Amino acid sequence: MNKTANQMLIIFGASGDLTARKLIPAIYNLYKGKHLPENFVVLGASRSSITDSEFRKKVVHESEYLKSSIKKEDHDFIATFSDKLFYEDLGDDYDTDYDRLSKRIGDLNNKYNTENNYIFYLSTPPSLYEAIAKNLSDKGLNNESDGWKRILVEKPFGYSLQTAQDLNKGLQKYFKEKQIYRIDHYLGKETVQNLLVTRFANSIFEPLWNRNYIHHIEITNAETVGVEKRGGYYDKSGALRDMFQSHLLQIVSLIVMEPPINSNAEEIRNEKVKALKSLRIMTDEQTLFDHTIRGQYVASEIDGHPVKGYREEEGVDPNSKTETFAAVKFFVDNWRWSDVPFYVRTAKRMPTKVTEVVIHFKTPHHQVFNEQDINNKHNKLVIRIQPDEGILIKFGVKVPGQGFQVERANLDFYYSSLVDTNVMQAYERLLLDAMQGDATLYARADEVEAAWAFVDPILNYWEHSKDVKTYGYSAGVWGPENSNDLIEGNFVWRNPGPHLVDDSGFCVIC
Ligand code: BG6
Repeated sequence: MNKTANQMLIIFGASGDLTARKLIPAIYNLYKGKHLPENFVVLGASRSSITDSEFRKKVVHESEYLKSSIKKEDHDFIATFSDKLFYEDLGDDYDTDYDRLSKRIGDLNNKYNTENNYIFYLSTPPSLYEAIAKNLSDKGLNNESDGWKRILVEKPFGYSLQTAQDLNKGLQKYFKEKQIYRIDHYLGKETVQNLLVTRFANSIFEPLWNRNYIHHIEITNAETVGVEKRGGYYDKSGALRDMFQSHLLQIVSLIVMEPPINSNAEEIRNEKVKALKSLRIMTDEQTLFDHTIRGQYVASEIDGHPVKGYREEEGVDPNSKTETFAAVKFFVDNWRWSDVPFYVRTAKRMPTKVTEVVIHFKTPHHQVFNEQDINNKHNKLVIRIQPDEGILIKFGVKVPGQGFQVERANLDFYYSSLVDTNVMQAYERLLLDAMQGDATLYARADEVEAAWAFVDPILNYWEHSKDVKTYGYSAGVWGPENSNDLIEGNFVWRNPGPHLVDDSGFCVIC
């Protein structure tokens, strides 16, 4: 176990949902797992005017989210943990009261001996990032002469390429790139990290990992939930910005990248950036039309219960065209992947929650046996990111009996079978890495910009072209009826659901 230095974690936006829902439970588990030093404190800061004890009550004692982590025998321990949490209010605009904040940080540092090592975790709207960084810098809180200083920012990192570049410049004015940690919580998932191990620790996959053996690659991210209480944010974002630009392109980069020379943060991130830069940017309208599908869930019933359509959700414009389903086909312009189509889709209100990568291998060059079903006569490697984390290999076996009838059998590995392993949740892993100064699982400035460079033309096209339709799909099915049209040949997405419309054609809602 690496040693974590004495330090203070300062959370901006601490009265928000993320602190109670993810950060405090993650810190609690790290503390309980003895990953944190005794000289460690958390200082919450935000607009709410509350005291230390009210903050502790909210995020620890009355927290619904922490309950699942706390066992009966932990009650004394909870008290010790909660004594490590403090709070300071920051006024209405996060732009004042930094004298008070920096004094509080100094006092806590002296009292708890956190050795001037600070992590500033920005869980605020991105529009505040630069102002917070500037204010910290004005107080000398970016200065590393007496201890290290790191700044962690949440997604969304920008709204477009331009805004991401502006944000990078804004942060880099006050903090060096090596001090900036951009969170993408998918990189904290064990199964996402395992993509690297699957590829680079096994000689059975890597030789096949290229255009000579791979026919196409499919990535699905499906959620059963709708936009929940986040309609206001989501309506300005949409699936492409919310999931695709960040989480899914991170997964793509791990699949596409070349082997790094070692497992250092910079080496891995260099290869990921190269991978993202090799995605073929779609610029002409015909390609954008043919290679992208935008959808939105409409009111329906799931298991007999009525479910609102997206446009009826709180905070959503009743005429909104914002996509809750996005599917994109694209190519990667490099030696390894030339001509291999990638299909990536993400959506809310799907029949099930699943994130998986499916590597479809080519069929053998010469068909000795007569297999009819095009979707099944090739090998598939299915990497289940969540839930049921694991890896499935589909391969042909002979059906016992006369002749040579071939059926696909499964070799299936479940992470849960590693019973002794305590799998860290994404935020635990990411926080611990940042506390130990390991940026491998954080996105670098050029990585984020390369992802936006790929997504920007699609967003612009969807926003401005009159040809783009928003296809409706009933909550609880696998997206618009025409989503299989994206896939070349007679292939279909894995697990396509029931069709939405009657025989009048596709359901176009605008
Ligand atoms: C977030 C998105 O980044 O990821 C949400 O903003 C989405 O819209 C969530 O629901 C999904 O995360 P997970 O870990 O549940 O797949």
